[in-house]
Amino acid sequence: MSKKTITTFNSVFEQDVYQGLTDFPKHLSSKYFYDARGDKLFQEIMKLPEYYLTNSELEILQAHKEAITGHFSSAGETFNLIELGAGDGTKTRILLKYLQENKISFQYLPIDISANVLEELTTSLTSELPGLAVRPVQGTYFESLEEICRLEQERKVILFLGSNIGNLLHPQAVNFLLQVQEVMSGNDLFLVGFDQKKDPQQILDAYNDPTGVTEAFNKNILTRINRELGGDFNVDNFRHWEVYDPETGTAKSYLVSKQAQEVNISDLNLKVNFKAWETIHTEISQKYDDEIVAWLAGKAGLGIVDVFSDSKELFKNYIFKKLP
Ligand code: AVI
Repeated sequence: MSKKTITTFNSVFEQDVYQGLTDFPKHLSSKYFYDARGDKLFQEIMKLPEYYLTNSELEILQAHKEAITGHFSSAGETFNLIELGAGDGTKTRILLKYLQENKISFQYLPIDISANVLEELTTSLTSELPGLAVRPVQGTYFESLEEICRLEQERKVILFLGSNIGNLLHPQAVNFLLQVQEVMSGNDLFLVGFDQKKDPQQILDAYNDPTGVTEAFNKNILTRINRELGGDFNVDNFRHWEVYDPETGTAKSYLVSKQAQEVNISDLNLKVNFKAWETIHTEISQKYDDEIVAWLAGKAGLGIVDVFSDSKELFKNYIFKKLP
């Protein structure tokens, strides 16, 4: 590996790519999957028959919308429904529609880093659910949450769906939950989706679809390095590889170099050498059970108020409150 000393980076992306590809073993963060093409590929993944997570969570929200929203507005007071990483809002629509039909007073505040995502979401929600109070907030989760807390006095119900928490290692997940807990007041609620441990084959299939969409999603990080940092990765020289450890509940995605090769990343002034079958670890998708969720929540100062599951117990949504 030939490295030139770089003391300044133009972005955190540059720094993370540099560190990840000069480390041993090599790694890149899955947060960089999500550029415009990555967002589209993830939308496609969510429609795959093998990717059971989306339909399982949709089933939960549909089957338990009355009980779930009953927690949100138990005393009939108005509240702010805040969603972290709203995306296209397909799942949240079920709750929004039910709340609106039942004339429950609330305001919807989707938080997303992408102004484009928020604009599309707001336009489609306003036409589908006229009269819905939508206030998009563009920014990072915690800065946006803090701003909302400064400006709004009403009760907060925070949503974090899709088992997005599973892309964090346990210490990062505790830290994430803790940061949300710190902006919560006594009667605020936090609804989080956690994909559950299950037949290991079903998990492997969900991350290794035969149509190759997940492979394209994983390799998109290399395409992004090529485009944004002047890289010359040949994505065909890498294999998408998924492993699942049923003991820890951790699914891991890798890109495996099919041959010895050298890759140049001109903006980083970096040559990266790969041995044949060397790996780049790109993503973890953690799977949970009730004990692990209770442990994570407890460490973050949160208590479980209620739990909702789909009929096959593939996925669960937990409602948390701040512990006194
Ligand atoms: C966004 N996140 C919860 C997905 C997951 O299941 O880990 C991302 C994904 N990676 C491959 N397929 C889907």
